[in-house]
Formats: sequence, structure tokens, C-alpha cells
Amino acid sequence: MPNLLRRWSTVVSILVLALGVCSCGGDDGDGGGTTLRVGVILPMTGAQATYGEESWNGMQLALEDLEKAGLPTVKVQVKGDDGKMVEKDVPISLNLILRDEKSTKQEAGTQAKALIEGESAHVLLGSVASSHTKMIFQDARESEVPCISPASTNDTLTIDGGPYTSRICFKDGFQGAVLARFALSQGWKKAAVVVDKGQDYSVGLGNNFEKVFKQAGGTVTFHYYVTEDSDFANVIQQVANDEPAVIFCSGYYTQVGPMIKQAKEKWAGKPIIGGDGLDSPDFFDLVGDVSNDIYLSSHFAADAPEPEVQAFAKRYKDKFGKSPGAMAALGYDVLFVLMDAVKRCDDPFNHAKLAKAIRETKGVKGITGTITLDNEERTPVKDAVIVKVEAGLKFHKKIKAGA
Ligand code: PHE
Repeated sequence: MPNLLRRWSTVVSILVLALGVCSCGGDDGDGGGTTLRVGVILPMTGAQATYGEESWNGMQLALEDLEKAGLPTVKVQVKGDDGKMVEKDVPISLNLILRDEKSTKQEAGTQAKALIEGESAHVLLGSVASSHTKMIFQDARESEVPCISPASTNDTLTIDGGPYTSRICFKDGFQGAVLARFALSQGWKKAAVVVDKGQDYSVGLGNNFEKVFKQAGGTVTFHYYVTEDSDFANVIQQVANDEPAVIFCSGYYTQVGPMIKQAKEKWAGKPIIGGDGLDSPDFFDLVGDVSNDIYLSSHFAADAPEPEVQAFAKRYKDKFGKSPGAMAALGYDVLFVLMDAVKRCDDPFNHAKLAKAIRETKGVKGITGTITLDNEERTPVKDAVIVKVEAGLKFHKKIKAGA
């Protein structure tokens, strides 16, 4: 259990609430006024539903731990027996309001507005795909409501999103370099990069890979598809014609899985690499029975040797019946980062104050690494892992932050 939990004071809330809580910035009509409304926007249905399911499961585990340790407290005025007002520390309660963005960017924007305007959310968490988070960050920026993405890695997101926006994952400048160096370390000098033109994530990651790969003497050709495609015959043929040493698929598992399956003959024997967008429990099944060596970079691998990773993976499996992917661990960590900020904030119900506390995040120990956000891009510098795809996702090696 992360250390910060132990520092949180446990307060017997029932006793204090029985005395009558009278005022607090978070008054929400429930009489307590200590409820933090956390809008959570995730793809719970549609093509990317495994991302949503895993993130939400991770958040449930975090909630269990946070509640067990005692939620952070806020100061409220309560009426004592003698009728006089006294100040008490009251634990806040967390109301996680989950909204499904249905795996589309439009819906992500719609849900962000609904949470900000309709639910008066104090803070937003979400989403996963970078182009969806971009829509949410736009609303966060305009409404000045803090928003943390658990998993969106596109480089410009937090720069465009402004000071109310942040994320707890590394960005694609790092991830692209990790993949380029990994490919070169395997002796693969000629890469075919296969990009989903409709996804900021895929385009950005492809470009970041190219930059480092070329600088180090590699050559690159680019090939494109769009998110709506399901028949990849053309792009598969173009890649095969190039005779690359490695194929880098920079998109999401929803397209790349079927693509690799369809390329069984044409890409036979070629190593394939990808980014965190392939990290889904469904990827292995979508790919099917192919002979390629497939590696991907990610934030977490359930079978990595660290004891905290092992403990988390076991607990997740016991509760949800499957091994956790990266999104599960990131979902867990994002709630921890938020509650660390809440704890340091004198009024977490105030958007500006909570956003500031989030920006000042330093050294929060999560399942995916240590998270510090007090930098210009409110983006942590973290390690990556390389995962091998064989009967599921298997830990291959760790790549140090900044390496
Ligand atoms: N990094 C991806 C994006 O920005 C999202 C993702 C993260 C997917 C982690 C899977 C696991 O779009």
C-alpha cells in the first residue's frame, strides 16, 4: 500500500455528521456538503470498451484502498452540544460519476459538458484515446475545471489543454523513442510504419518513432489506414512490398489486431511492434494464430517482477477474474493522484485550488511508477515496459524513464 495512505488521518465521520455539518465549499444538497463529485469519462461500450472496463475496475480497487485508509478530511463548521459553532475535520466522501463516451470523440465532449454543467463536477478523470481526451480537455480549459487523463499520451494534449489539464502517463515523445531504440537494439534498421490517419495518438507516435529511428541511422516508410477500416488488404500489401525488417503499427488494438490476423501470410516471419494502444486483454485473441514475434511498449505488465505490481495483479485477478492490463493500473493510479492533491488542498471543492494542488503533485508512488506533475507539461517522467505478445501479454523488459 502506498505510503501516503498511512499519513491520512482517519476520522470517525458518523460522529461528526451526527453533530450536524453546517458549511463547506462542497455543499451539494446532500446535507453533508463534503461530497467531492468526480466525473469519470471512459469508453465503456463500443470498440475500445476494454480500456473503459479495465480503468473502471482499477478505480474500484483504488477506492477500496482509499476508503480503508480513511479519506482525506476537510475543515467544516459544526454545531456543538452547546449550540456554538466549532471547526471539525470531516472526511470527504467520493462520488464517482461514470459516463460512457461510447468510444467516440464526440460523445467524450458531450459527456464532459454534461458533467461540468449538469452535475457540477469538481474534477474530471478521462479519457483513454488521445483524440477523445482532447475534446474533454477543451471543455476543461474553457470551464476551468481540473481534468486528469489516466492514459492519453499524445504530446500536445496538456500544452493545448492548459493549466487545468494533466495526465499521469508518459507522453509519446518518450514512447516513440523507446520503440525506435528497441527496434534498433534488435538489429532492425528498416521500418514500415502503419498509421491510423484519424487518430492523433497514432499519427503522433508514428512521427516520434520516425524522428529517433532516422537519427540513429534507420530508414522509414509510412502507410495509412483510417479508424473505420476493417479490410486492410491494401495497406498489408503495400507494407509487404517494402520488405521492411520490422513493422511498426502505431494504432489501437481494435484495428491492429484484425490487421495482423489478415496479414498472416503476407507478413509471415516479420517482427511487429506497437505502442500502448495495443495493450488490451482482447489483442491476443484478435491477432489469432500468427507466427510473428510481436512486442509492444506500455505502462505496466502484470507479470513484471516488482512486488507492488505482483500484489496488484493478484488482487485484480482475484476480484475480476482476469489479469490486469495497463489501463487497470493507470485507473488505480489516477484516483490516487487525485486524492493526494485533495489531501494537500485547503478547499478541494474550488476548481482553481484543486487544479493548483494537482499541478503541485510530487512523488506519488503508484502501480505504474512514481508520478510528479510539477513541470511545464503536467506530465510525469516514468519508465516504460516492453511486453511480448505470446499467450497474452508477457513482460519482456523495463525501459528507464528518459532513456
Ligand atoms: N496512449 C493511448 C492514447 O493516447 C491510450 C492507451 C493508453 C491505450 C494505455 C491503452 C493503454 O490514445
